[in-house]
This record gives sequence, structure tokens and C-alpha cells, in this order.
Amino acid sequence: MLPMPRDIFTEPADVDPDTLNNLGPLRRLAGRWRARKGVDVAPKPDGPERRVFLDTIEFQPIDPQANGPQLFYGLRYNVHITTEEEDITFHEQVGYWLWEPATGLILQTVAIPRGQVALASGTAAADADMFTVSAKRGETGYGICSTTFLEQAFRTDSYSITISFHADGSWSYVTDTALQVEGKQAPFAHQDRNTLHRIGKARPNPWAEILARRKAG
Ligand code: HEM
Repeated sequence: MLPMPRDIFTEPADVDPDTLNNLGPLRRLAGRWRARKGVDVAPKPDGPERRVFLDTIEFQPIDPQANGPQLFYGLRYNVHITTEEEDITFHEQVGYWLWEPATGLILQTVAIPRGQVALASGTAAADADMFTVSAKRGETGYGICSTTFLEQAFRTDSYSITISFHADGSWSYVTDTALQVEGKQAPFAHQDRNTLHRIGKARPNPWAEILARRKAG
């Protein structure tokens, strides 16, 4: 007897519309954040260059997202980075952080205007104080895709980010991006780290806002 095909279409019923209530390990990220002492190590012709940068990051809740039976709660984020020395943007990044309460799966999508995207994954418990997600070039599930120039000159073989929450409400990240730079033997460890402090709260997700307005009449 052939096994019954699994139901890939039916979505969960009674989904809680309040995303901020269902973000698990991501809930402490919701809101707006700033930091002045980020440290970047990047590849330059004469070797690694260390620079200090200013970070502004915003995470706002999105409506619950179902893939058939799979249900994610998440945040849309925007990272904007500058330096004291220059007005031009130093680094920009947009994407989503998603958490699947049923399994503890965490996803981060990364899109940077260098012509590069990554989908990183990991797992964490709802009350985790620290978690890591990672992606690998060449993987179709949780991989890295880059424009041809980067593939040739700065091949990005792996990416990971570790986030840690602190008792005072701040949080830190460390990203490790392995770059195979053209003409170099060893991979380059492109590392970035910072500790963020809150400058604003998150708004409710759109669906929760609609229901709250209706309730208020
Ligand atoms: C806080 C986060 C980050 C900062 C501040 C940052 C900054 C930089 C800087 C200053 C460079 C040197 C080239 C330049 O001056 O534009 C660079 C190169 C590069 N970064 Fe990042 N980066 C960050 C995160 C990432 C992430 C997450 C990825 C990919 C997943 C990435 C991929 C690359 C690549 C492929 C290059 C080589 C391109 C080149 O040097 O022209 N970076 N980054």
C-alpha cells in the first residue's frame, strides 16, 4: 500500500494574529537599535583593513506566514551602516528573520547591494539567550548566491551570524563570512561585530493592528 501522500496544502487553523507574542528567540530583536562601536575586518589589496562603524538596525513584525502546514512568525529588518569618516553608506542589508514555533527552526534572509543573497538557518528554543544561523555556498537549501564578479574575485563560501542577548536589554552580533579572494591561498575571514542599544519600540504587525482597531470600534 502506497503511503498516504502528506497534506502539503492545509494551513494551520486558529493562528494567533499577534506576531510580537509568538517570536520566541527573536522577540528581543523587535524594535529599533543603534550602536557606534562596530568593528569590521574587510579585504583590501594590502591585507585586512579594520574599521569602526555606526549601526542603525530596525526590525518590524510581519504577519504570520504559512507554507501549507508550516507556520513562521517573523521580523522584516533593515541594517544601515556608516562611518565617522565618510557620509556614504558603508554597508546596507535587508531581509527577514523567521522562527517556526513547531520545530524551533530559525531562518535569516540576507540581501546586500553587492549582488549577493544568502538564506541562513539554525535552531533555538523560545527562551534562548544565544543562537547561530549559517549558510554555505553550493547548497540549494540554505545557500549563498552571488553576482559573477564576486563569484570570481571574492567567492563567498560560508556565512554565519551569532546573536547574544544581554541582561541590560542590549544584544550583540558576530558575523563570520569566509571569502576566497582571487589570487590568495587562504580564505579571508571577513568579520563584523557590534553591540546594539534600543532607540525605539516595534509596531504591531499589520493584521494585529487591523484587529485592534476593529476591537476599539
Ligand atoms: C556589519 C556587516 C558588514 C560590514 C560593515 C561590511 C563591510 C565591508 C567592507 C568595508 C568591505 C570592503 C570593500 C568595501 O570597502 O566596500 C566588504 C567587502 C565584502 N563584503 Fe562585507 N560587510 C558586512 C557584512 C557582509 C556580509 C554579511 C556579507 C555576505 C554574506 C558580506 C560580503 C562581502 C563581500 C563579498 C565583500 C568583497 C567585495 C569587495 O571587497 O569589493 N559582507 N564588506
